[in-house]
Amino acid sequence: MSDGLALGDFHHVGVVVGDIDAAMRGNSRFFGIKKWQLRKFEGDRLPGFEDSGFLSAIGSSESGVTLELLEPLTADSPHATFRSWRGQGMSHTVSHCTSEQFSRLQKQLADLGMGVVHSLNLHDKLRSVQIDSRPQLSGLGLEVQVIDEGGGFDALPVDRVVEYDYSPLLPIDKLYHVGIVVNSRERATASFRRLLGLPEFLPLDLAVGESLSSVQLRGESVDHAARVAFSRANGFCFELMEPGAGKGAYQEFQSNYGEGMQHYFPTICEQSVFDRSLAGLSKEGVEVLLEGVIDGVMNYYYLDADNLLGGMTIEVICPHDADWMGVMGMTQEQGYLIGL
Ligand SMILES: [Fe+2]
Repeated sequence: MSDGLALGDFHHVGVVVGDIDAAMRGNSRFFGIKKWQLRKFEGDRLPGFEDSGFLSAIGSSESGVTLELLEPLTADSPHATFRSWRGQGMSHTVSHCTSEQFSRLQKQLADLGMGVVHSLNLHDKLRSVQIDSRPQLSGLGLEVQVIDEGGGFDALPVDRVVEYDYSPLLPIDKLYHVGIVVNSRERATASFRRLLGLPEFLPLDLAVGESLSSVQLRGESVDHAARVAFSRANGFCFELMEPGAGKGAYQEFQSNYGEGMQHYFPTICEQSVFDRSLAGLSKEGVEVLLEGVIDGVMNYYYLDADNLLGGMTIEVICPHDADWMGVMGMTQEQGYLIGL
């Protein structure tokens, strides 16, 4: 097994949005995030990008889900390329490394011939790079910040604190995993293992009539198949999904965007809790995109929360049995790889 790139520890997911004020409100409404720290990076705060800066708003829920919303201010700004490709959505992971790890990372990138999308020096004291990893990691960007210099990101001046007092629309447990649509499970798992040092992947083959009892896409019963795989390292858990035959959320994502981060999974709750939340979700424009059923194990849902959250799909699991993992024949170790 390769050790992978010296990225440090996963800290949060970066979401590129078109309207950061609307996205702060929407993410507070959904996740119950009470407070955002908004920073404007441009001019002498962003050497090299003085006239093409961006806004950053970072916030955490009480259960520790942290998101950073990013709004590029011009077509040449950092994160603008993602905005023109995807519109809005989950763009990259942000990890925190030490300056020693960062030196090692720079040498690894040179050895591998991998470049960087942007290299930032925030307020002339905090270094951050986005690695040009999307071609090799199925659309996933990797942003790395050096945290033992200049007091780290949290020490950078805050321009505006934005507060909301919403309760979450669903119970928010933690970030179990992020799901990434990939064109080839074999190719993607090999690249993820090599670059991220992931120990192993747990593969699962999904197909209606075999491992799935039924799938509904926007309320219509569909045939659906996918080959997925899970792994976890450095505080972060991935699901890679290769769309198969039939229709589904992965298939639609692939035909719209190709590969990339498709879903964010923060909730396992009772079916009755989920059912009671549907009216409130709908009032905020969040609808069930897909419902999958594995008899005796779970109902799982993908919620279309694009407008409320800024291009994000949310996964929710409602178990049929307290020991749903046991019913599926899964071990604790396999549960760990799924993000539990
Ligand atoms: Fe998932």
